[in-house]
Amino acid sequence: MKGKLTFVTVATVMILLMTGMIISSCTKEGPEGKPGLDGIDGKDGAESCSSCHNFSEILLAKISQYQNSVHAKGATLDHNNQGCGHCHTSMGFRNYLTDGTIATVNNPTPINCRTCHPIHESYTLNDYGLRTSVPVNLLLGEGEYDYDNSNLCANCHQAHDLNPYPVAGGDSLSIASKYYGPHHAPHVNMLIGKGPYQIPGSMEYLNSPHTIVVKSGCVTCHMGDATGNWAGGHQMNIEYRNSYGAIAYQYTGCLSSGCHETTAEVTAKINPNRAEIQGLLSELKTKLLDKDLMDPDGYIRPNKKMSQMDLACFINYKFVSEDNSYGAHNYRFTKALLVNTLEYINPPR
Ligand code: HEC
Ligand code: HEC
Ligand code: HEC
Ligand code: HEC
Ligand code: HEC
Repeated sequence: MKGKLTFVTVATVMILLMTGMIISSCTKEGPEGKPGLDGIDGKDGAESCSSCHNFSEILLAKISQYQNSVHAKGATLDHNNQGCGHCHTSMGFRNYLTDGTIATVNNPTPINCRTCHPIHESYTLNDYGLRTSVPVNLLLGEGEYDYDNSNLCANCHQAHDLNPYPVAGGDSLSIASKYYGPHHAPHVNMLIGKGPYQIPGSMEYLNSPHTIVVKSGCVTCHMGDATGNWAGGHQMNIEYRNSYGAIAYQYTGCLSSGCHETTAEVTAKINPNRAEIQGLLSELKTKLLDKDLMDPDGYIRPNKKMSQMDLACFINYKFVSEDNSYGAHNYRFTKALLVNTLEYINPPR
């Protein structure tokens, strides 16, 4: 049976071939047609991946810096609920940028490459672009933050709306929640000098050159060439511990912008300012504790009757202490704020 079938198949093929030969030998050949247009080259999958995944260590360096950052650790990832998750989780932020959603995020992930860059969306180097760099409106009061690529950071690193906000001449009041305050990241507000209550006093409220000339804001100072994987670059901190275990600061950003000449010059400028702001801040803390407006952990005393200006003193303290830059973000403004607040709370007799 099998042998017969094979014979039939071979015979059929032979007949078809011979017919083809006869037909073609009867056809006269015309002149050769013009060559067709070249087809578009197909995409080589491996090639597009290798623009990033390759033998260079560029991606690896970013990953190494990033993995050592506070962002990557996800220490506040439990704040994935509505109203918190859009700053504290990756997907929450992406949803927020897409359509303003601030809903609870299930299976939260820490802030990662995909949070800030559209990684694996086009599979080209465009995926290293930023998800957003549009200017950001302040959540507290009127104002806009517009400093180039660092507008991305401003979405999260700014004070929350304060309700109530102190009103000059208003009635005394009390605050029910001990969590009242501008939240833990008023960096944008301190940098541009908007948000704290400007109690009048002997010092004029001015902004430092950092507010005026550092056009890329946070990115210029916090993302300069990295020091090890401990600071700068995608690690993003300024203060770090060096390989001898000592506290050190990375000021490469200050130099790259062409504003300062040497690290030594920066250190000589910043150290006295830091000490001065630290001193004023702890003086204000003592006053707030003495007046029992605040507890030793820095929370407001709930349900305690206070004047509107007492409340202003409290929020000003919180702005400077949560900013945690000891004047680096905006020295002139920070100093005026502390000096004038201290004058109010501790009038000269
Ligand atoms: C724009 C640069 C870029 C391109 C192009 C790119 N990747 Fe990636 N890839 C990344 C980054 C960044 C990560 C995340 C690294 C991290 O989170 O530590 C990543 C992670 C990965 C991972 C690890 C698992 C994961 O998803 O995090 C795999 C697998 C991967 N890429 C495969 C590919 C393949 C396959 C292609 C091509 C089809 C490709 N990548 C193209 C940048 C790129
Ligand atoms: C607008 C963005 C934003 C929202 C909304 C937000 N946070 Fe945060 N939060 C931050 C940022 C940024 C930090 C990091 C500050 C830093 O480390 O300098 C932070 C820090 C914290 C910390 C850590 C403080 C510390 O000292 O380690 C806690 C706790 C926290 N947030 C709780 C919450 C809770 C609870 C909510 C919701 C009610 C919330 N956050 C909503 C941006 C936000
Ligand atoms: C919190 C936001 C954020 C996260 C998370 C983040 N990046 Fe970036 N990345 C930026 C910003 C902002 C810039 C632009 C810096 C500038 O303007 O100088 C940038 C630039 C880059 C660049 C191109 C410019 C350069 O520095 O060479 C690469 C590549 C890059 N990031 C890779 C990564 C990778 C890989 C990850 C994850 C390991 C990551 N980024 C995570 C914010 C982020
Ligand atoms: C999606 C919101 C979000 C964005 C965008 C974001 N951050 Fe953060 N950042 C946080 C949170 C939340 C923390 C605190 C992390 C934690 O406690 O888990 C933090 C922590 C930090 C810290 C460490 C603070 C410390 O206590 O040591 C620095 C520095 C920082 N961010 C700088 C930046 C810079 C610079 C950018 C822009 C390139 C940026 N961040 C963008 C949310 C954000
Ligand atoms: C002009 C430079 C400069 C700019 C612009 C700047 N920073 Fe800073 N920032 C500093 C320096 C310097 C420190 C450290 C001060 C110290 O510890 O004495 C600091 C401290 C911080 C800290 C405290 C936590 C830590 O240990 O790193 C955070 C968080 C932070 N900056 C976030 C931001 C964000 C977000 C922006 C943008 C809105 C920003 N900074 C803009 C220079 C800058």
